[in-house]
Amino acid sequence: MANEAIKADTSVSQLRCIGCGRVALPDRFRCEHCRDLLEIVFPGWAEQGPAGLNAEDLKQLWAGRQSSFDPADRSGVWRFREILPEITKQKVITIKEGNTPVYELPRCARSAGVEELFAKHQGMNPTGSFKDTGMTVAASFARLAGYRWVACASTGNTSASMAAYAARGGLHSLVLIPEGKISWSKLSQSLDYGAITCQLKTDFDGCVRVLNEVVQRMPVYLLNSVNPYRVEGQKTVAFELLEQLGWEPPEHIIVPGGNLANSSAIGKAMREMKQLGFISRLPKISVIQAEGANPLVRSIRENGGEKLIPVHAETMATAIRIGNPASWKKALRVIRESEGTVEQVSEIEIAIAKAEIGAEGIGCEPASAVTLAGLKKLVTQGFVKPHESVVLILTGHALKDADFTLKFHRGDLFAGTPLESESEILKGQQRAPLVLEPNVDAVIDLLRSAEG
Ligand code: F0G
Repeated sequence: MANEAIKADTSVSQLRCIGCGRVALPDRFRCEHCRDLLEIVFPGWAEQGPAGLNAEDLKQLWAGRQSSFDPADRSGVWRFREILPEITKQKVITIKEGNTPVYELPRCARSAGVEELFAKHQGMNPTGSFKDTGMTVAASFARLAGYRWVACASTGNTSASMAAYAARGGLHSLVLIPEGKISWSKLSQSLDYGAITCQLKTDFDGCVRVLNEVVQRMPVYLLNSVNPYRVEGQKTVAFELLEQLGWEPPEHIIVPGGNLANSSAIGKAMREMKQLGFISRLPKISVIQAEGANPLVRSIRENGGEKLIPVHAETMATAIRIGNPASWKKALRVIRESEGTVEQVSEIEIAIAKAEIGAEGIGCEPASAVTLAGLKKLVTQGFVKPHESVVLILTGHALKDADFTLKFHRGDLFAGTPLESESEILKGQQRAPLVLEPNVDAVIDLLRSAEG
């Protein structure tokens, strides 16, 4: 069977259950005993550190690779390969992912009530979302294991990313997406990259249910974020961020929450960085959900995070329209150990925040904008102090959902919805396209009135 081939040096890295702690076979996604999720741990680090190097050596090694032209060094994920499960460099499928910028957002900082605000823009990855950092790792291991097919259920970004990496690696890919509930640009990506793309008449959670059965019956490798190799790749974002900040952790990191793998990955990275001596304290990691897709917020508020309360998810931030998140326990652990929090934001708050990030010349997709909307609430509550340093994780590029942006500026985002009357508040930020005769004076008049 193909999956026998996923082998790592088990003295260095192992797959372990997050619930009962049992070691699992490398091709599994859930514990055979308690059905909890698995994570990759690195017992080999305890003795001598990753690849026998200490934090200072690793910092230098990674910085040095930035001037290399080796494809693995050009990748912002594989540049950090010492903290990833082992794979020969030549076997890696890379599209030069990672290496994403950190931007300062001075106007958003003012609007949120903090002195300084930074955004780590994961939308600047090759397929336009943070998914590429995890996909390069998981797709590489899928190919190494001899799989010919990979598959995912998705709200659009995972599928775009998986289809691209499968194409680059010579693998076939199967995408299950909820019909009519993802943006056209994301759908178009998976078509363009050659995936077999199925729109199922259900939501994301329904797509996951179908796919979980398919992968049990067919030799297809699951690339949803329950795949622990994806989490490892997504971890590198935090290493890269800390490198960009001179290895000084910010006080707060704010992450959007959907299936809750990204917050888990960033938290795992911080835990490992502390363990390895890169940092001496953890930043507080807070997760923001849309009000209509808030299972984690509800679970923490209503039962202290004892058990997940799945919800029927509804939000225009379609990337995070998820009611039954797989990685909720991992995310909860991260929030608790980092002393972060959770918050939810309304559709109007998301739209305003997205426009504010766009107006800084940066832009992002709606799901990413929940971070700024959430930050405003956390500042008002006093959880984030004005002088504290904050990094928002922007997860997707503005062009991922141009439809949302156009509707916003034309003023019809909420037309015909119960929020129509409330949406008056957006008027100040809307810049509808103007249609004019091809007349110089008309354009000059317009310019004058805009100046005045
Ligand atoms: N932001 C964007 C742009 C996303 O696409 C997603 C998830 C998230 C945030 C949430 O991240 O799931 O790790 O908590 N998108 C998935 C997908 C589910 O299928 O593309 P998470």
